[in-house]
Amino acid sequence: MLVYTTQITLKEYLSPLKTEGKTIGLVPTMGAIHEGHLSLMKLALDQNDVVVVSIFVNPTQFNNANDLEKYPRTLEKDVKLIESLSDKIIIFAPSVHDIYEDNAVADVFKYDGLENQMEGANRPGHFNGVGTIVKKLFEISEADKAYFGEKDFQQLQIVRNMTSQFNLPVEIIGVPIFRQEDGLAMSSRNELLSTEAKKEATLIYQIMLQAKELFETKSIEEVIEFVENEFKKHPNFELEYFEIADEHSLNSAKEKLNNVKYRGFVVALIDNVRLIDNISLN
Ligand code: PAJ
Repeated sequence: MLVYTTQITLKEYLSPLKTEGKTIGLVPTMGAIHEGHLSLMKLALDQNDVVVVSIFVNPTQFNNANDLEKYPRTLEKDVKLIESLSDKIIIFAPSVHDIYEDNAVADVFKYDGLENQMEGANRPGHFNGVGTIVKKLFEISEADKAYFGEKDFQQLQIVRNMTSQFNLPVEIIGVPIFRQEDGLAMSSRNELLSTEAKKEATLIYQIMLQAKELFETKSIEEVIEFVENEFKKHPNFELEYFEIADEHSLNSAKEKLNNVKYRGFVVALIDNVRLIDNISLN
């Protein structure tokens, strides 16, 4: 298993492959690898000659120092897990200094207003940090394709927006949410939940499935009211937001229009752990 820890050595390895015409697939992650991440890697392995997985806890996308400090760092375990999927994957696990030198500061991006919605409004500066690191990773890896999960749907749309804004020569592939059998979306944060809370957290997907069904016949306002009431029945949950938005603009929807794809977006806290999920509604 090849693990590169500096941009220079990774580039030295990839450059002749690129010259030979090999295609490169990139899967950016922050580590604490789980099956959700592995589903991105599987698709990348199917579609590319070479797959690079980056593992980098990017400081510039955290708006809370405590959250950054608490973020799980489990490189050895991650390498083993990735190796069990395929020993052909190249891992890029640089230090903060290698990426940012002495200036770990995000560039400022505009993403046609996508940055002002939901996670952008709730986590100031977050998507500047994401744009900064993703753009750097595209440049370092010279990837032909890069893989992002629909689990972080807003991030996926923002990366798409950035890529076309800067004309970056990479194709963005969105990958469906990987769920446990009981419906809970896989996430590094699930590991922070007690057994009880893990069980209760399956409610998020159950409520969203019901919302999807209701969406066929009810108004947006009624669906939102239903979801908010369902969460109120479960005092262990704190619903941070539930929004129905146009999938492309991510503008909050007031009424249903023809030919618009809508998604429901939820953030809920249980055991003080912030869980994020979304579902296509039509
Ligand atoms: P991270 O949270 O590690 O996620 C890495 C990628 O895995 C993201 O594209 C995310 O959407 C995807 N992912 C996570 N859980 C998933 C699931 N259950 N199903 C499908 N995909 C899933 O997102 C980040 O890291 C960072 O912001 C990053 C893009 C690496 C930039 O630092």
